[in-house]
Amino acid sequence: MRTYAIIVIVTAALVWAAGCASIETTAADNQKDQQMEKKIDELLAKMTLEEKVGQMTQVTLEVVAGETNEDGWLMLDDKKLQDAIVTHQVGSILNCGGQARTVDNWLQIITQMQAMATKQTRLGIPIIYGIDAIHGANYTLGATIFPQHIAMAATSNVDLVRTEGEITALEIRASGMPWNFGPVLGLGRNPMWPRQWETFGEDAYISSVMGAAYVEGQQGSDISQPTKVAACMKHYLGYSVPLSGKDRTPAYIPERQLRQLFLKPFAAAAKAGVATVMVNSSEINGIPVHSDRFLLVDVLRGELGFDGFVVSDWADIDNLYKREMVARDQREAVKMAVMAGVDMSMVPNDYSFYDHLVDLVKTGEVPISRIDEAVADILLVKFQLGLFERPYPNKQLKKQFATDASRQVNLQAAREAMTLLKNESDLLPLGKDKKVLVTGPCSNKLSVLNGGWTITWQGDNEALYPQEKSTILEAIQDKVGASNVEYIEAVTFDKELDISRAVSAASRVDVIVACLGEPTYCETPGNIDDLMLTAPQIRLVQELTKTGKPIVMVLTEGRPRVIRTIVDDAGAILMAYLPGMEGGQAIADVLFGDTNPSGKLPFTYPKYSGWHVCYDHKKSENAAPNKFDPQWEFGHGLSYTTFKYGDLKLSKKQISPDEKLTVTVNIANTGSREGAEIVQLYLSDVVASVTPPVKSLKRFTKVHLTPGQSKTVRFELGWDDFAFIGRQNKPVVEPGEFKITLGGLTEAFEIQ
Ligand code: BGC
Repeated sequence: MRTYAIIVIVTAALVWAAGCASIETTAADNQKDQQMEKKIDELLAKMTLEEKVGQMTQVTLEVVAGETNEDGWLMLDDKKLQDAIVTHQVGSILNCGGQARTVDNWLQIITQMQAMATKQTRLGIPIIYGIDAIHGANYTLGATIFPQHIAMAATSNVDLVRTEGEITALEIRASGMPWNFGPVLGLGRNPMWPRQWETFGEDAYISSVMGAAYVEGQQGSDISQPTKVAACMKHYLGYSVPLSGKDRTPAYIPERQLRQLFLKPFAAAAKAGVATVMVNSSEINGIPVHSDRFLLVDVLRGELGFDGFVVSDWADIDNLYKREMVARDQREAVKMAVMAGVDMSMVPNDYSFYDHLVDLVKTGEVPISRIDEAVADILLVKFQLGLFERPYPNKQLKKQFATDASRQVNLQAAREAMTLLKNESDLLPLGKDKKVLVTGPCSNKLSVLNGGWTITWQGDNEALYPQEKSTILEAIQDKVGASNVEYIEAVTFDKELDISRAVSAASRVDVIVACLGEPTYCETPGNIDDLMLTAPQIRLVQELTKTGKPIVMVLTEGRPRVIRTIVDDAGAILMAYLPGMEGGQAIADVLFGDTNPSGKLPFTYPKYSGWHVCYDHKKSENAAPNKFDPQWEFGHGLSYTTFKYGDLKLSKKQISPDEKLTVTVNIANTGSREGAEIVQLYLSDVVASVTPPVKSLKRFTKVHLTPGQSKTVRFELGWDDFAFIGRQNKPVVEPGEFKITLGGLTEAFEIQ
C-alpha cells in the first residue's frame, strides 16, 4: 500500500476507458481503508525481515506435496508444508498439482494450509491461494466451464461476461480459493501466438469493456463478500504480440502504440478496481517487463492508479538471468525484479528467492522500505479479502457450485458465441430429417471444445472430461437420432486415417458436417510454424467435395487457422472458437436452427499465413500495391434473419473537442426469424498528425429483434473517443473531419 496511490488521479492519457464502470469511493470506504492501513502498519511493525520476505514468496503446490493418491491427486506432505508455511512463512501457494480435484479435496487441502498458517506461525497470517480459473473454475471437477475469452468476446454480451466472472468467483471460492489469475487483457493481434484464445480478441475497446466487466463480476464492489475473489489482470504489458508469433519471445511496441492500444484494457481493469496484476513473461523493446520500473511503477501505479500487488509470472525472475540475460545471476535477478516493482515472486519451485532477498536486505542492497511497501500491498489484499477474519473455506458455498442455472448461463454463452462465417444458399439451418455424415478430428472430443486450462494445464486429457457433456457428434445425434448419423473420424490433426471410408459414407447422407480445427494446447507447447490448417484436414475436405454433397464446416480452434484453399468447398462455415463444456450442444443448436447465430468475429480472420494486419490498420496497408484482403473481417458474422440499418443521424455536424456527439441509428429485422444483431460503431479520424487507423471500434451493443421489428440505438461519444496518442506520446484531439461508420452507413462531422 502506497500513500500516493490514494491521491493519484488517473491521467488524461488513461481516462479513455469510457463505458467501463469504476468503483465509487464512499466515506465509509475511506474509513475502512484507514482501519486497514492501521492494521497493516501494526502488523508490519511486528514482522521480522524473514516474515516479510516470506509474504513475497509464492510456491507451487508440488513444493508442499508428497504422494499421489488413488485419484491421481498430489496430497499434502506435512513436513514440506511446515517448511513452506512455518519455516519460510510463504505468503502464497498456487496451482493444482497436475489436474483438477473435487470441491471436497480442495476444501481439505486449503483448510490444512490455513490451519497451519494461522495456528502454527508466530503472527498467524493466512496464505492467499492463487489459481488459474481461466474459463470457469477449471481446476475443480464438475465446475461450470465456460467458453474461452475469445468466444466470450464474440458474444458482445458484456453482462454475460460479468455473470461468467460472478459464477467463476463463486465456484473457486466454493473450492476454498480467493484469488484468480484472470482476466487475460493482452490484445490478440498476432494469430500465431498460442495464447490468442485467452484474449478478448484484437480490439482494445472490446477487451477493455469485457475485461472490466469480468473483473467486476469476480470482485463485485467488495472482495470480502463470501462469493467474491481477487482478480488478476495479466500479463502486463505487451505480452500478446511476440514478433515471432512464438510464446514468450520479444515484442517490439513503440510507447505510442503501447498507450494507444495495449495499455487500455489494463487501464480499464485498474479503474474497475482490480486487486492484483501479473507481469508479462517476456520483453518489450529489449526490456524484460519484470525489470521495467517505468511500466511497473510509473505507469501502472502512477498513471493507472493501481494499488494492489504485482505478482511475477512463473519462474520469470529466474528468467532474467537464465533466458533474458539482463542479470548475471539469480541474486542480481531477484534484486532487479524487486526494485522494478515486483511484489510477489511466483518462484515457484524452491526458496531461492526468499534466501536471496533476505540477504539482499541484510547487505543493504535492497532497502527495507521497498520490502515494507511490497508486503503492505500484499497484506492489503489479504485484509480486503477478509482472510484474517475468515481464513477457512466457506463450506456452505458448495450448495451453489455448478448449479443448473449456471449451466444455463454457460449454454447461453456458447450459443451467443457461435459465429456464422458463410452460409451459401441458406444451407443452414439443416432440417432435422436429414441424414448426416459427421467427420474430422474435432467431431467426438470434449477437449477440442474447451482448449487449454481445462482440468489439466494442456486440457488434453480426454479421459478426465465429464462424460455427460456432449461432443459435436453426440449433440448432432440428439438432434436427428443416432441412426441418421454416420461418424467417420477420417483424419487426425496430423495423420490421414481413412478418408476413403468417409468419401463412400458421403453417398449415403444428405449433408456432411466436417469438424475441423486444432487440438488443445496452452502456452509454449501451442507454438506453431505455420498458420495453415493441417494438411490431412484440408485433404479430407477436398476429397469430400468431389462427392458433390453439401459440406458444413465447423471450426473449433483457438486461433484462426488459414483455410483459404477449402473455403469454397464448404457451403456453410460455423466458427465455434473454444466454446466450453456446453459447446457441443450450442453448435448443434445452431446447425439445426434451434438457435439463430449472432456472434461476430473479435479478430480479423487471415486469408494468408504471411499477410496479416488487424482491422484498425493504416491506409498504407490497404493501398496499392498492398491490399487488405482477409478471409473474413473483424466484426463479420451472419444470421438466419436479415437486418437493415437506416436513418444514421449525428446530433451535430460540427462540435468542439469537449462536446459530446450523439449518434442514432435504426435497425430493423427484415427477415422471417427472431434474431440478435451486434451493432458496432466505428470512428475514423480522416487526417491526423500521427497516421490514423482506417477505423476504430468505439461502441457496440446487441439488439434483439422479432421479424418486422425495428429499434433505434443511441450512442454517445466524447473527447476520449476522439483522442489518439499524438507525437508527444500524450492523448490529443485534433480538429478536422471525422467519420462514423455503422452497419454500412457513414456520416461525417467536424471537430473545430
Ligand atoms: C502463465 C500464467 C499463469 C501461471 C500460473 C504461467 O505459465 O503464463 O498465465 O497464471 O503460469 O499457472
